Amino acid sequence: MSKLWGGRFEGSTDEFAEGFQSSIGFDSRMYREDITGSIAHAHMLGAQGIIPQEDADKIVEGLRSILADIDAGKVEFSVHDEDIHMNIERLLTERIGDTGKKLHTGRSRNDQVATDFRLYMKRMADETTERLIALCGTLVDIAEENTDTIMTAYTHLQKAQPTTLGHYMMAYFEMFYRDIQRFLDCKKRTDVLPLGAGALCATTYPIDREMVAGELHMSGITRNSLDAVSDRDFALEYLAAASICMMHLSRLCEEIILFSTNEYGTLRLSDAYSTGSSIMPQKKNPDMAELIRGKTGRVYGDLAALLTVMKGLPLAYNKDMQEDKESAFDAADTLKACLRVMDGMLKTAEWKKDKLRAGAGLGFTNATDAADYFVKNGMAFRDAHAVVGHLVLYCEQHGKALDELTLKEIRQFAPEAGEDIFRAISLETCVNTRNVPGGPAPGMVQEHIRQAKMLLGEL
Ligand code: ARG
Repeated sequence: MSKLWGGRFEGSTDEFAEGFQSSIGFDSRMYREDITGSIAHAHMLGAQGIIPQEDADKIVEGLRSILADIDAGKVEFSVHDEDIHMNIERLLTERIGDTGKKLHTGRSRNDQVATDFRLYMKRMADETTERLIALCGTLVDIAEENTDTIMTAYTHLQKAQPTTLGHYMMAYFEMFYRDIQRFLDCKKRTDVLPLGAGALCATTYPIDREMVAGELHMSGITRNSLDAVSDRDFALEYLAAASICMMHLSRLCEEIILFSTNEYGTLRLSDAYSTGSSIMPQKKNPDMAELIRGKTGRVYGDLAALLTVMKGLPLAYNKDMQEDKESAFDAADTLKACLRVMDGMLKTAEWKKDKLRAGAGLGFTNATDAADYFVKNGMAFRDAHAVVGHLVLYCEQHGKALDELTLKEIRQFAPEAGEDIFRAISLETCVNTRNVPGGPAPGMVQEHIRQAKMLLGEL
């Protein structure tokens, strides 16, 4: 079987080299984009009188039947035809005869592959956003049930101040909501049609690029043909957004793993999202969370791979760029799967409210509030800091929490202390009085939740 580009060749491609340079093994997943792109191109060729209308109709009909057959799993692709673009063109000509050979008029595989890849990555951005919206909804649900579930907040992984599980969940909501914004933003620049750029210097045919963009529901056309076929920054933007999102997932996973240890014991993962050990009968491992954390490295690798492929490439198309797809596909597959697993894991996990509350009572999480109590009674903050520091040391030596001290003991360090100090340093007071926008007071978190629901509703 001769190559579609075989005219100027006398010899045939080495068999191993043919497999080496073919991309059908991974670009066949763009078949839908390739065919819808070709249908739009054919419609335009007919409408502009570049090919006879009846030929355009025949081509469109042929392409539709190929699409249906691929959907039904009836088509086998061949490495001989290198990539999805030439495989489909070959199938078309086999089906409708010589008319099929007119489809590639005024077009190159270079603008074709850029179009297919943009359409595909636009779909990936949409599908990723969908998953992120679901995850954000779950975080909001958990937050809503826990605006007064007191827990510890940490810095340096040392107990710092009390907060609530609602406040904590809404922190992750913010991170994932920004991820949504990044994918939506990246989609805007992806959603631009390169077709019409030809191989690199456009075409002499009177094509109508706006018509093709309209049919493909793309928001505009590229403004320079050399750029259109030679940059892959839209895929890099997806990869960068995916890397940031994986970083957020990985941090959440790290906390899930910690919280579900026997030492913390504040979170119990459901059996549906845990695994056992082949030797230790007692084990219930947070494998899903660990795997998401691990896959973060893989997505960073995908970003680094494509950045490195693209660096130093002269304009315009170079075959190096065939290496763009596997990284982007792998990152999209990985991220979407991780988002789905995270959503399920969180939905089914059980937070141990008593343990969360008890943990917050240890480690002097109310020390800042004790210092603030003395400040409100006229002491300078730095002095109050020192007084409470001494109190903490005393507590450690006597195995007590701050609120377990007697007023007499406290007055040894700060004679100005009154009975009202106990109320001031109760964990509930600590949380409730952090009543500023962004703070953990239940009313503030409820307001945040209200805004979050509105933001998600607008997407
Ligand atoms: N399979 C190629 C790719 O993925 C399609 C474009 C090939 N163009 C070319 N002139 N070799 O990049």
